[in-house]
Amino acid sequence: MQLRPFSLLIICVLHCLYFSATAQPTRVREDFDRNWTFNLGNVSRAEDASFNDASWRKLNLPHDWSIELPFDSTSPTGTGGGALRGGLGWYRKTFTLPATDKGKNIFIDFDGVYCNSEVFINGHSLGVRPNGYISFRYDLTPYLKFGNEKNVIAVKVDNSQQPNSRWYSGSGIYRNVWLVKTNSIYVDNWGTYINTPSVSSTRATVNITTTLSGTGGYCDVTTAILNKEGKAVAVQTQKNLHVGALQTTRQVFSLQTPVLWSIENPYLYKAVTKVISNGKTVDEYTTPFGIRSYQFDVDKGFFLNGKKVKIVGVCNHHDLGCLGTAINTRALERQLQIMKGMGINGIRTSHNPPAPELLDLCDKMGFIVMDEAFDMWKRSKSKYDYSNDFDEWYKKDLKDQILRDRNHPSVFIWSVGNEIQEQWAKEGDTAGTAYLREMQQIVRSLDDRPTVTANNEVRSMNRLLQSGINELVGYNYHHGDWPPDSVTQKWGRKPFIVTESVSALQTRGHYDMPSDSMRIWPQRWDLPVANANPDLTCSAYENCFTPWGSSHEATLKMFLKYESISGMYVWTGFDYIGEPTPYPWPARSSYFGIVDLAGFPKDAYYLYQSLFTTQNMLHLFPHWNWQPGQVVDMWAYYNNADEVELFINGKSQGVKRKTGDELHVMWRVTYEQGRVEAVSRKDGKVIASKTIKTAGAPAKIVLQADRSAIQANGKDLSFVTVKVVDKDGNLVPDAANNIQFTIAGAGVIAGVDNGSQTSMESFKASERKTFNGLCLAVVQSTGKPGSIKLQAKSAGLAPATIDIIAK
Ligand code: GAL
Repeated sequence: MQLRPFSLLIICVLHCLYFSATAQPTRVREDFDRNWTFNLGNVSRAEDASFNDASWRKLNLPHDWSIELPFDSTSPTGTGGGALRGGLGWYRKTFTLPATDKGKNIFIDFDGVYCNSEVFINGHSLGVRPNGYISFRYDLTPYLKFGNEKNVIAVKVDNSQQPNSRWYSGSGIYRNVWLVKTNSIYVDNWGTYINTPSVSSTRATVNITTTLSGTGGYCDVTTAILNKEGKAVAVQTQKNLHVGALQTTRQVFSLQTPVLWSIENPYLYKAVTKVISNGKTVDEYTTPFGIRSYQFDVDKGFFLNGKKVKIVGVCNHHDLGCLGTAINTRALERQLQIMKGMGINGIRTSHNPPAPELLDLCDKMGFIVMDEAFDMWKRSKSKYDYSNDFDEWYKKDLKDQILRDRNHPSVFIWSVGNEIQEQWAKEGDTAGTAYLREMQQIVRSLDDRPTVTANNEVRSMNRLLQSGINELVGYNYHHGDWPPDSVTQKWGRKPFIVTESVSALQTRGHYDMPSDSMRIWPQRWDLPVANANPDLTCSAYENCFTPWGSSHEATLKMFLKYESISGMYVWTGFDYIGEPTPYPWPARSSYFGIVDLAGFPKDAYYLYQSLFTTQNMLHLFPHWNWQPGQVVDMWAYYNNADEVELFINGKSQGVKRKTGDELHVMWRVTYEQGRVEAVSRKDGKVIASKTIKTAGAPAKIVLQADRSAIQANGKDLSFVTVKVVDKDGNLVPDAANNIQFTIAGAGVIAGVDNGSQTSMESFKASERKTFNGLCLAVVQSTGKPGSIKLQAKSAGLAPATIDIIAK
């Protein structure tokens, strides 16, 4: 955007006016993650301030205790829960507050505790919260001591009643905790609401509603909108507001030539709200936001800033592989970067409110988020799940989720439920629709984004769709029912979105031939999978998926065919712990991911890349280590090219072109040792090529860090990929070598993995077997600056070392 001199002058004046009033920061939000103690198991009187926890383990949050436990076939969480136990744990933290904090309001904010938490301060119970995914605040003020006197926070976390989840939930204070200190008048928790009801390239209306809290007195509220460079582009002041209990004030801005938030340019503004009392700034509260317009159209799908965008999204669960559910911003960012790399532009937070950091990243990186509330309402899916708490808590939980998340420009859709059992209510049973109506009212009272339910019943007897309450019609699966006529005939002229699709099953690097032989697993839940692979693998060709799902390609063909489909969220971007459909123990993590649990792409990754990214790409698979004379199906995904030619040891196997709606090309060839090569051509010129050579015996280890410099903050991570290669550097496609790590300097190993769905090795170890040639070590900074040296060795292989710097 080009700014005219006059606009620049206005910006400078506003900036000076605004910052001349700036005093010292008036609100303090402290990271409260460090120096907790932890005990797994119940202990009586652990909430008492005088309780002696000297023998408890010392740790920093976020923390997931389940990921540290061994896989256990008798765990009541079942393999659905990752065969990792839950249990009951206590956390305590002792802290002091300076005498100067006396008179302040002091709150503790939990981003998420799984689950059934009860929080105590100096022996007083502050409350309970059953929902393991919701963020909540308690006011500590009345119970605190200052100066040299100690305060004790104790948190009881009860994840002992199992099963309570269909996937791995993790256990503990697995998200961040904050201590917030304010003066007597302050912006309330989640106290701003910013929306942009009218947006064009020349002008945008920005409404900012601010809720003040506190006791008595009058104040002024000044809100400045800062651009990316931190310059104030608009300022408004509201004078003489009386603050009783809660007071709401609304400011309406009109911005000239706004920079719009989009997937390609996720531009963020900041609203900085200052509360001024008796001439002094008593609070300052910052809300990042974006300016964008959007529309869901029944015929033409989704539009962002007037431009048609097809939402190509993925569903993800909240675990971070070997880190468990303990939130880590870099681990989340890496996941999103991997997704961007395949052309994904949407994230569904299946099936619960996410960590706030995920939405911050989606805002900054440009994703279209479907923010989901519940996996069940009153009708349960597992015995001890949230259905038991639903009646008492759903209104508050939903309200808090919307209040927390509604300023994120990346959020476009509220999903109030996934595959809700009330879909199937008998005729005349209106309980489900009554819940839905109530939830719709809650959302509408707080925000204007559309709501949806993710339905796996798409026949006209679906009570939730019948009710017509949601603005969007959402289907899980049933790709045969996506044509616009079929949707509108049943539900009227409402915009349509595929809330969940695919559920293909794949093991990275494993191929069942011929590639057109289909495995639709499981045929029945009560029987073992017929013709199952004894090693519990699923084929990474497009030939293994669930009966309710469909292959990636079949799904994409329908998705691309109809303009009316606003978008879809594929099940799933990443493998996750738990739900190892179609296999029983010892399978313990899912096969659904386009990327495995360690973050290594399966071949389907490149299918999406060929469709939804623009740089020239060509992906050839599988590997080239077979039995002499064996018939092998070689597949290629490519883009931007007219044709692809395959060569085996220099001999052409023919030229292939995708025709009609085909999404790949294939050659059925006879294996001979050596090299296989594909070249893609555009207008007769080679634009990409790929060569795979027959690998010899495992000879050495290769280490590759995703980042060789990390922050020395005790949280940042470097993900180190470990490859086992032959003497010439070719990846050995079935290598299963046990790699031992040693680490020295300013780093520790936070986790190890290899993406196998059946490995019984611990994620928290300093060794890992490679699976199909690869494994992963996650290196975390200790908090001190300095160099980190990671060494990897294995019997019979040349070792490797990598240096990472923590700054
Ligand atoms: C869906 C469900 C997901 C997951 C998936 C596996 O029906 O919504 O949570 O269970 O099936 O295919």
